[in-house]
Amino acid sequence: MSVDSLLLTPQIAQYLAQLQKEEDPILKQIRETTEQHRKGSMSAARETVALLVWLARLIGVRNYLEIGVFTGYSSTAIALTLPEEGHITACDINVTHTQKAYLAWQMAGVADKISLYLQPAIFTLKALLQDGLSEHFDMALIDADKIATAEYVELCLQLIRKGGIIAIDNVLLQGRIIGDTNNSPSLLAMREFNRQIINDERVYSITLPMGDGVTLLIKK
Ligand SMILES: C[S@@+](CC[C@H](N)C(=O)[O-])C[C@H]1O[C@@H](n2cnc3c(N)ncnc32)[C@H](O)[C@@H]1O
Repeated sequence: MSVDSLLLTPQIAQYLAQLQKEEDPILKQIRETTEQHRKGSMSAARETVALLVWLARLIGVRNYLEIGVFTGYSSTAIALTLPEEGHITACDINVTHTQKAYLAWQMAGVADKISLYLQPAIFTLKALLQDGLSEHFDMALIDADKIATAEYVELCLQLIRKGGIIAIDNVLLQGRIIGDTNNSPSLLAMREFNRQIINDERVYSITLPMGDGVTLLIKK
């Protein structure tokens, strides 16, 4: 690959945005309401979520695990694409944000498909394993505290079935992943994760420059 091949100028990004199918009205409402209340919304990028939904359809996801729910943008999008018997296990620690997510799930008619665990995700993932849910999930999204990314991946590798997908959002940290000298623990952790995952023999890994950068792992 040529390092000059990245053509994602603001104009090309705008053109690509125009090529996206119209956003589901409920997702649009979640995104716009979240942006109104909070500048610099933490929701996953629209195109990243569209990719996750596409992948969920491709591999026929029934059991989906989400680490980092916020106001419910990505979880609602996935829930809307799940089959009747599909289920989401959702992890977060923030009551205020997830109350908004719950309203969004109700509005979208998917609240009964989602179980929310309000405690640090590490506890929830370990409890799921203790409950015998190894290899139970088809797909997971890791989109919470960046410092714990590698630990989340380790636990997700136990919880996801062979051939399942683990997506990790924000691997570029809004460009801070290169050049930023502040060396915060999150930044160092994400740099280390990005460096290590390419040689991890347990997964097929690819990193895409979509949204804030997303790494996709297929469990071998
Ligand atoms: C980037 S947002 C998630 C965005 C969401 N996926 C969406 O598309 O709207 C990160 C979320 O992770 C949650 N979070 C942070 N640390 C956490 C932890 N230790 N365990 C579980 N959730 C955590 C935050 O409360 C926040 O809601």
